[in-house]
Amino acid sequence: MSTVFVVTAYGGPEGQQLTERTAPTPRAGEIAIAVRAAGVNPADAKRREGAFGTGGRLPLAMGLEAAGVVTAVGEGTEGFAVGDAVLGAPARGLGAFAEHTVLGASGSVVKPAEVSFPAAATLPVAGTTAYDLVHQLEPAAGQTVLVLGAGGGVGQMALQVAAAHGLTVIGVASDSKRALVEATGATFVPSGPGVADRVREAAPTGVDVLADLVGGEPLRELAPMMTSPAGIVSAADAETAAALGGGGRERSEEALGAITSLVRDGLVDPHVGQTHPLAKAAEAMAAVESGHSRGKVVIIP
Ligand SMILES: NC(=O)c1ccc[n+]([C@@H]2O[C@H](COP(=O)([O-])OP(=O)(O)OC[C@H]3O[C@@H](n4cnc5c(N)ncnc54)[C@H](OP(=O)(O)O)[C@@H]3O)[C@@H](O)[C@H]2O)c1
Repeated sequence: MSTVFVVTAYGGPEGQQLTERTAPTPRAGEIAIAVRAAGVNPADAKRREGAFGTGGRLPLAMGLEAAGVVTAVGEGTEGFAVGDAVLGAPARGLGAFAEHTVLGASGSVVKPAEVSFPAAATLPVAGTTAYDLVHQLEPAAGQTVLVLGAGGGVGQMALQVAAAHGLTVIGVASDSKRALVEATGATFVPSGPGVADRVREAAPTGVDVLADLVGGEPLRELAPMMTSPAGIVSAADAETAAALGGGGRERSEEALGAITSLVRDGLVDPHVGQTHPLAKAAEAMAAVESGHSRGKVVIIP
């Protein structure tokens, strides 16, 4: 048997628990892995709460990004072999917070030896989001990008992706994350009341791309700083971004390979701020649900 962290009732943390299952086997187009690390995302708690619907079958296996070692390859699946270290997104809702799971081969890549398993496990969701937010509007080198929510899992990678692309980078986060933001080479601007004035000082000619990970009022406050409102792109609040003249994150096919290469080449450090054993998956979930975790939270089975 194989341990997995599941939701048995939609709602609060009381509806989640560890359980046992038979290790899942891969179908065509899938690969089975022994999980070595899994990234925790705000979307995990949103799924548990039913924000994406409550029609799915329970128990619902948790976790949307994983890295591990291939134990079996589905029929006709090419590009992977037993023993390969890989990273990707779990198939068929099979979860990442588990000793064993199955990944969709088309959404997986081989893990470069230079990338640790915990770092690799942050790339299928958070890393690709950071990559897409920075690249989807195709900013020219030298333009200014502002990352709102710069100290979180996606935000701190977005800062580094933008720097690697030759952009001038500003990170807005709480004061406790000043060092984390500045370590990437970005200009730090503290969040909270008066943030628009502080951004105006840091970017007197305006912001070309606003990569948003917060949404709502903090996003609205910064919209007047844009050289064009079309430069607003949000992973957190596509509705507000659209109302302001921007839009939501668009998934690109190249993102997973591209962010993996940036990490391999030492240009992006996913900054794993906390790791928790699978037995403490609930604590890992709670750390992300606080809304103020530093960098990425990762579960190690
Ligand atoms: N659409 C997609 O495909 C996609 C993919 C990944 C993530 N997302 C979404 O993107 C958002 C961020 O994800 P994440 O993984 O980076 O979450 P996270 O690690 O929890 O980071 C969120 C960050 O927001 C900051 N924050 C909260 N309130 C703020 C405010 N008023 N001003 C400035 N910063 C503030 C927090 O830092 P402080 O402690 O500094 O406040 C925290 O570091 C979530 O809503 C998530 O669901 C969407």
